[in-house]
Amino acid sequence: MITNKWRILKVRATYFYVTMLLRTLLFAEFLFPVSPWPSQPIDGGGWHLLQENIGVLPMHMQLLHNDRVVIFDRTDFGASNLSFPDGKCRTDPNDVALKLDCTAHSLEYDIASNSFRPLMVQTDVWCSAGAAMSDGALVQTGGFNDGDRRVRIFKPYPNGSDWEEIPFALAVRRWYPTNQILPDGRQIVIGGRRQFSYEFVPKTNGATKAYSFPFLVETNDPMIENNLYPFVFLNVDGNLFVFANNRSILFDYARNKVLKIFPAIPGGDPRCYPSTGSAALLPLRNLQAATIEAEVLVCGGAPKGAFDKAVNRIFVGALNTCAKIKITDPKPEWVMETMPMGRVMGDMVLLPNGNVLIINGAGSGTAGWDNARDPVLNPVLYRPNDSPGSRFRLLNPSPIPRLYHSTAVLLRDGRVLVGGSNPNVYYNFTGVPFPTELRLEAFSPPYLDPEFENLRPKILSPSSQTTVSHAQQLAVRFTVTGNNVTLNAVEVTMVAPPFNTHSFSMSQRLLVIGGENVTDMGNATWDVHVSIPKSGTIAPSGYYLLFVVHREIPSNGIWIRLL
Ligand SMILES: *[C@@H]1O[C@H](CO)[C@@H](O)[C@H](O)[C@H]1NC(C)=O
Ligand SMILES: *[C@@H]1O[C@H](CO)[C@@H](O)[C@H](O)[C@H]1NC(C)=O
Ligand SMILES: *[C@@H]1O[C@H](CO)[C@@H](O)[C@H](O)[C@H]1NC(C)=O
Ligand SMILES: *[C@@H]1O[C@H](CO)[C@@H](O)[C@H](O)[C@H]1NC(C)=O
Ligand SMILES: *[C@@H]1O[C@H](CO)[C@@H](O)[C@H](O)[C@H]1NC(C)=O
Ligand SMILES: *[C@@H]1O[C@H](CO)[C@@H](O)[C@H](O)[C@H]1NC(C)=O
Ligand SMILES: *[C@@H]1O[C@H](CO)[C@@H](O)[C@H](O)[C@H]1NC(C)=O
Repeated sequence: MITNKWRILKVRATYFYVTMLLRTLLFAEFLFPVSPWPSQPIDGGGWHLLQENIGVLPMHMQLLHNDRVVIFDRTDFGASNLSFPDGKCRTDPNDVALKLDCTAHSLEYDIASNSFRPLMVQTDVWCSAGAAMSDGALVQTGGFNDGDRRVRIFKPYPNGSDWEEIPFALAVRRWYPTNQILPDGRQIVIGGRRQFSYEFVPKTNGATKAYSFPFLVETNDPMIENNLYPFVFLNVDGNLFVFANNRSILFDYARNKVLKIFPAIPGGDPRCYPSTGSAALLPLRNLQAATIEAEVLVCGGAPKGAFDKAVNRIFVGALNTCAKIKITDPKPEWVMETMPMGRVMGDMVLLPNGNVLIINGAGSGTAGWDNARDPVLNPVLYRPNDSPGSRFRLLNPSPIPRLYHSTAVLLRDGRVLVGGSNPNVYYNFTGVPFPTELRLEAFSPPYLDPEFENLRPKILSPSSQTTVSHAQQLAVRFTVTGNNVTLNAVEVTMVAPPFNTHSFSMSQRLLVIGGENVTDMGNATWDVHVSIPKSGTIAPSGYYLLFVVHREIPSNGIWIRLL
């Protein structure tokens, strides 16, 4: 299927090749703008190699509330580098690579012990989606071939559990869809290759329906399909913000109705797969206010035409812009900002202190097999509260390129787990520009630097796994290593652990739930009184990480379950 598409693209791209070469020569400065940060200082952060070889490529990652990360790849790549013990194998007559496969394509990584165990996934999970449900189980949808209509469930407990699969649980085949957790506890599954529709999981009342979604037809460029893995966020009004290709809408999924068409992103370049940029819903604040504001930030991607050219071995510089829009504004406009460098396939990770980490990716090319060059090894930090023009910080580089099929998720201790990179059709360790990468790293953002240890809060209560309900008042008791709290610099945040794949963190959400109300309890402890968000529209039920942040330095998180 892909090979056919590429053959067509090749013919078209010969024309592009000549015209774009001329344009590149004529407008070199326009295409490769001079960085406004000629000598950007590096602002810290550190990398740690966790595992030399985890054996399975982390194409998809989800942190669960038992502090383990479920990782999976695709199943039809041939053998992975992690074998099952005891001669356990999978027989799959539909597998296009190995009918009898005694290697794992999924694993459970235990953060505390830095160890992992293989999991058995039966059908092809390639380029799929998912979300942690309100009970904490990972529910994962779709994929390729025999997996494209499956729903798979991974329950964190009991220890030693494995994937369960439900055949034909999706109404239609979905490959490259985006999922988002909803206020009623279901997840919505949107799009996928040649699927201009959405549906819900789990199905209620036995309904197996898919609902048509013309926006995905309108944003579909049939040759390039630049609207796969659309960026979807639950807005504070209960509707969905959906961004595909270069356009976005506010969508009422319950009534199948477009409520608002946002202005096109300035420049008109595509930001979704395969021109893969990324997007994040910025921290939601002032949740007690009558009107709550929500802002979306879209960063990086590849310019128009870059995919055609990448297929023909011309690697165009990635976009170096971020575009921000207040989606709750009556007259919303995009505001552009410039990153320290261009980046395609960057991951945007919301950190406990509300800053956005932009990590992984490449400086040229696009997503897709061997379509990118110039790995971007330095993460950057975006600080939403700083003044425009000075929001980005360049951080220390990893030695490891993380291109197509890389992942990054926030952990409870504030580190970011980073894995993957496999721009090759199989596991390929030699003779390719970017070998399949099985090393697992953790990135420690600057707030973990020892110099900030004196400021670091430690949560004394409630205990981890505490259950809370919407609109509940909660006292969070903490100490600070240096026994000194700057009272007006405390914040408590709640972070929903997202499902990360293909440079997008689905259902990622950070809520600032308090910080103004801090009481000195004596004996070097403080209580901060916070309000759990009032509804599932603002914070869908489920497990969240709760952090106390003091002068931008976060505590270790605790898990809370919002019922
Ligand atoms: C993975 O396994 C293959 C085949 O056994 C082997 O050639 C290769 O060196 C292994 N690579 C890594 C990184 O483990
Ligand atoms: C599950 O595993 C964790 C750590 O690996 C351990 O602390 C816990 O006691 C185990 N629980 C059960 C029920 O075995
Ligand atoms: C947005 O993308 C479409 C489809 O690729 C393209 O036709 C259109 O010109 C783009 N919009 C702008 C403003 O460039
Ligand atoms: C790895 O890539 C090389 C170079 O393209 C190719 O010759 C070889 O067949 C590939 N190996 C596998 C297992 O795909
Ligand atoms: C506490 O912190 C404040 C603000 O940083 C500082 O001015 C003050 O000197 C500190 N007090 C002690 C006792 O360390
Ligand atoms: C601060 O917390 C106390 C104790 O829960 C509560 O009585 C008070 O109303 C809170 N004040 C504000 C401004 O939230
Ligand atoms: C004060 O804190 C110390 C050390 O955490 C503890 O041993 C002591 O019981 C506390 N005293 C009171 C009055 O809470």
